[in-house]
Amino acid sequence: MTLVIQSTIKLAEKGNSCMFWFLKRIPLLLLIGIMALVMSNCTMLGLNYASLATANKPVPQPPLDVAAFAEDSGRRDALKEAFEDTLYGPWPAGMPVTHGDWRVVDADYLDGRGSLEEVPITIGSGAGARTFQLIVAFPKTPGQSPLVVSQTFASNCAAFPGSPVTAADGSICDGSEMNGVFGFLATSIFGTYIAEVPVSRYFDAGLAYASFYASELVPDRNGEAQTVMAGLGGPLNPTSALMAWAYGFSAALDVLEADPRIDADHTALMGHSRHGKSALISGVWDRRVDAVIAHQSGFAGAALSRSKTGEGLVRMAESYPHWLAPTAQGYAADLSALPVDQHELLALLAPTPVLLGNGRRDVWSDPNSTYRAAQAASDIYRVEGTTGLTSGGMKSFDPGAGLAFWLRPGGHSVVSEDIDAFTAFLQAHLGQPGIRETAVQTADCPVSLPTIITEGGAKCP
Ligand code: GCU
Repeated sequence: MTLVIQSTIKLAEKGNSCMFWFLKRIPLLLLIGIMALVMSNCTMLGLNYASLATANKPVPQPPLDVAAFAEDSGRRDALKEAFEDTLYGPWPAGMPVTHGDWRVVDADYLDGRGSLEEVPITIGSGAGARTFQLIVAFPKTPGQSPLVVSQTFASNCAAFPGSPVTAADGSICDGSEMNGVFGFLATSIFGTYIAEVPVSRYFDAGLAYASFYASELVPDRNGEAQTVMAGLGGPLNPTSALMAWAYGFSAALDVLEADPRIDADHTALMGHSRHGKSALISGVWDRRVDAVIAHQSGFAGAALSRSKTGEGLVRMAESYPHWLAPTAQGYAADLSALPVDQHELLALLAPTPVLLGNGRRDVWSDPNSTYRAAQAASDIYRVEGTTGLTSGGMKSFDPGAGLAFWLRPGGHSVVSEDIDAFTAFLQAHLGQPGIRETAVQTADCPVSLPTIITEGGAKCP
């Protein structure tokens, strides 16, 4: 009996010392756990730098058949079909687009520099048709204005804080979700202009600015998105949110190109991240578009699907299945079977000017393979009679190039320098001829960006 008690005590002591050892080291173990978590997510957290070396990386596959592109218009159609069959599903051709009455939100917007207005646009037919509010800032300048249309993550209330625009539920905005601590954190991480639109900067560049909240068209939620798309009531419904949002851009153009205040021959689409993906897609399927800005578009945007850096198509398809067509899941499981890659999407845009925005720490979106995709697509831009990338590597920005590559320090965000780059590109390609030439010729500011030309004269950003 004594023996049993003695061994039980010994065991308990052993257990206690083990527990004691563990308790004593909790802070160290916690630190090791946190370090492991951070290190395995460095790319996602924006702690890594994108490589600037491209010559030592694989050339995009499949190779582009430049001659076939130049001679055979059937090549373009076949390639578009291949993208539809694999990643994006069908462009919803013939889907009805109608719009309601315009409402003047603020006739003296920005101290009288413009007029802020909105118009409800409906896509589809029957009970499942979807309506979103397009907000448009028209500058009060003589003649027709070139236009940039953006689609946003943030609600219209957050994009135009302080203006009584219509919210997604039909009420008039009173405050925004970006007020308070959430807004402070979001803008600290994702940049000052992640939600709020600096309209005055677009006015400075002589542009009208329009935008809509993409989730009002198709909600950015797996499950709900597919149900909404299936119910749109078109002759052909979209099967991916990216394609549906791309069609939203096109619907906005239908309405705005018919407006006498807009110069229909000078229109651009613009989007950040997931909406950079949809801007590129829209530019391919709607050839009216005169320029595209795809900022940090990443996978299923301008980054190569076969790249092993950053998020990767496989992870994207897993995390956001509703962004892609159901067929994409099969290709994500076997990337080698994917018959297309994103340099071909860029080639389909030629000769339309494209700005690819990137952040050096935004390895998640893979600036390096984005550059290589643009390098490969440049051959098609050249046969189409325009410039592709101009030489100088990933850090050289030429806003007048057919394929303009913008790489700044920092992460996945929209910051003030990005707006300078966007407006320089838009002025170079959509500005009045005189302004365009000057913008390119006066690229002699002490910083790497070109001079911005405003009505009041030139200024360095
Ligand atoms: C996620 C997603 C990206 C996407 C980004 C965005 O990070 O992984 O593919 O581009 O969201 O839309 O901000």
